[in-house]
Amino acid sequence: MAEGPRILIVDDELVVIKSAERVLKAEGYSVEGAVGGREAILKLEKGGYDLVFTDLKMPEVDGLTLIKWLKKTNPAVGIVIITGYPSQDTIKDALELGIIDYVPKPFTPSVLLDVTERAVEWIKGRKSKEEQTVEEFPPAMAVELDRVIAKYRDTPGSLIPVLQRAQEIVGYLPPVVQKRVAKGLNLSEAEVHGVVSFYSFFTMKPRGDHNIRICLGTACYVKGIEGVLEKVKENLKIGIGETTENRNFSLEGVRCLGACGLAPVMMVDQETYGALTPAKAIDVINSYYAAAAGREPALAGASPEEEE
Ligand code: FES
Repeated sequence: MAEGPRILIVDDELVVIKSAERVLKAEGYSVEGAVGGREAILKLEKGGYDLVFTDLKMPEVDGLTLIKWLKKTNPAVGIVIITGYPSQDTIKDALELGIIDYVPKPFTPSVLLDVTERAVEWIKGRKSKEEQTVEEFPPAMAVELDRVIAKYRDTPGSLIPVLQRAQEIVGYLPPVVQKRVAKGLNLSEAEVHGVVSFYSFFTMKPRGDHNIRICLGTACYVKGIEGVLEKVKENLKIGIGETTENRNFSLEGVRCLGACGLAPVMMVDQETYGALTPAKAIDVINSYYAAAAGREPALAGASPEEEE
């Protein structure tokens, strides 16, 4: 809002619009009026407004209908109601719809200016929160991600390799990363999101330092992977698709790890562990804790053959 917010005053009484315009324009605000909800919708459809002051009781399209429409079509616009009938219920309904504040009618210039100032501050605060969310991953990661995007920008079919690199850099693919990739590769966010949700090797949730993949395929099932899975879940206190609170481990269930002869099987990162029993699986997990603590790992990296 470098040039100041653009405000729309909606009322079925022209005199109210004119007096609000006079007060706000004198303070340098950019203000326009709309006589009634219908005219307001026509103006708002064109976009460009930051703040709407609306009466509630209006013929045809009333204030609550206008607010509901705005919340659905343009939730970024701040809303203040101006009402001559501020009953508790009306205010409560409007507050539940997410209005910022209300101005009782008739209003004095100082009340109107006071509420406007608060509403403008509210909009500014929300915008800066949104900006922080956009940069919720460290700037160094953002720079690296932008470098990867720039490298692939002109290569057709580069979405998957870019997402793979993005996942390596950030650790997972939250909406903010998907958005950045979509923008950088000139694709729609829906397209990027579709690819991320389609391939199981992409994750939208943060993963732990070690990713445990438990095979739930038929061969592993027959050989008792269910008991292994239960024990691992109990030990880590997480379910499939979750990450431990300390971010050490994530747990995934997969269809077949391609090592059916070693069933039941699980992988931790790139290591395969076969012929598992519940107790053996816990030993494997403990070996990663031991490695992290700097002690000699008992099993980390051991092949199934070595374990036997
Ligand atoms: S079914 Fe488990 S590795 Fe194939």
